Amino acid sequence: MARVALVTGGTRGIGEAISVALKAAGCQVAATYGGNDEAAKAFSDQHGVRTFKWDVADFEACKAGIAQVEQALGPIDILVNNAGITRDTTLHRMKPEQWREVISTNLDSVFNMTRNVIDGMRERSFGRIISISSVNGQKGQFGQANYAAAKAGLIGFTKAVAQENAAKGITVNVVAPGYIATEMVKAVPEDVLKAKILPLIPVGRLGEPEEIGRCVVFLASDDAGFITGATLSANGGQYMA
Ligand code: CAA
Repeated sequence: MARVALVTGGTRGIGEAISVALKAAGCQVAATYGGNDEAAKAFSDQHGVRTFKWDVADFEACKAGIAQVEQALGPIDILVNNAGITRDTTLHRMKPEQWREVISTNLDSVFNMTRNVIDGMRERSFGRIISISSVNGQKGQFGQANYAAAKAGLIGFTKAVAQENAAKGITVNVVAPGYIATEMVKAVPEDVLKAKILPLIPVGRLGEPEEIGRCVVFLASDDAGFITGATLSANGGQYMA
């Protein structure tokens, strides 16, 4: 039977490529999104993937949303924690809301989603939990104290939850993309991107969202059952963790 996969933030950017890649690999996919109805509709029409709207920063909304997905598609076998935002600014200018928004959307969400699927995965003795971190969670980044903290935090979360669930057939891993050609990276000021970021990528280009989709498909596959607690870096050589 086809596995059921849920991808948060799965209608745009890297999440869209992950949803599409999982579908191509034979999964039944549910893609969640937070606000952009127009993009979600266009995504769903183009790829034939069902979309669900809720705020991943809200625990109760995750619980209700997951119940809805499971009713529609069946128990979730593969969870991809991808939803994320940036509120870039240096720490000395950062407002508490800019800290909180990023921590709750990028890190609380990982708890909110994983906590609400883990019991079912343990009962069924199978699960794949893959969280999308960032090169900037591994190495830090000027202007991203909030984002780097959240993206580093989910690596620690993954290593703990991997240990707790290894004997239950559940693997828990991280994919850490570098700079990928998405709207999020296009929002970086062009002079900063050209002068401070691109020269640091040995492969000499931005990554493509599909390159991250393929990493997720591999970690989600039955073949990757011996890999847990790992961080798969896909960053063009920018940082070798
Ligand atoms: N390293 C060192 N110095 C830097 C720097 C860097 N990476 N980025 C900027 N600076 C320096 C600038 O050169 C400038 O120095 P001077 O005053 O000597 O010229 C000074 O810091 C101020 O820079 P800005 O003019 O850009 O300052 P600002 O206040 O307008 O903006 C900023 C600051 C918001 C941090 C902006 O520089 C920025 O957006 N930087 C990009 C941050 C980034 O890489 N975000 C990643 C987004 S993509 C993503 O998050 C996905 C992912 O996972 C990879």
